[in-house]
Amino acid sequence: MSRVARIAVLVSGGGTNLQALIDAERAGALHSGKIELVLSSSPTAYALTRAVNAGIPAHIVSKKELGGQEAFEARLKAYLAEYKIDLIILAGFMSILSENFTAAYPRRIINVHPSLIPSFCGKGYYGLRVHEAALAYGVKVTGATVHFVNEIPDGGEIIMQKAVRILPRDTAESLQKRVMRLAEWKILPAAVEKISAEIGEN
Ligand code: GAR
Repeated sequence: MSRVARIAVLVSGGGTNLQALIDAERAGALHSGKIELVLSSSPTAYALTRAVNAGIPAHIVSKKELGGQEAFEARLKAYLAEYKIDLIILAGFMSILSENFTAAYPRRIINVHPSLIPSFCGKGYYGLRVHEAALAYGVKVTGATVHFVNEIPDGGEIIMQKAVRILPRDTAESLQKRVMRLAEWKILPAAVEKISAEIGEN
């Protein structure tokens, strides 16, 4: 008998990727896993409102308030243990996690990144900056990547990727929106379903 994987989604901002996961769960496209917990590194993240609207327990874990990386990660771990989480999704989570943290959850942390890794990724490449860098370089195709998280920023094994064409009049903002709509919001729920199903079998 397979069981439903217990999922935590870690967020920092708007939470459109969290919303894509909530919608996928409602539509039945995500059925091997269930979102049981949302943790936000920011007290003002709109993602928190999305969680509350969906009836998902949500907590703020602020590095600033806790006084540093160690206490921040200890609090995250405590919540993950309390909710018996099997799978952690970084969905626009803007805090780098230490090796100590990532090593505690091998192949159990997934991230969505708004480029085709290994392009425009690693330290300093997050959010709009990724799209600004793609436009500045002049690439004609970009996209999104879902990958496992290890100690190397954006360096873990790739699970899924989807390409998106860059258009002549694109701005970083227009490109970000299109990459989200055509790539991130599709491959993140699909990858989470795939890995949840694998967890459920074991
Ligand atoms: C998304 O584009 C996500 O891929 C990116 O931040 C945005 C968050 O949006 N993540 C990174 O750049 C991580 N390196 P959201 O809060 O609306 O999901």
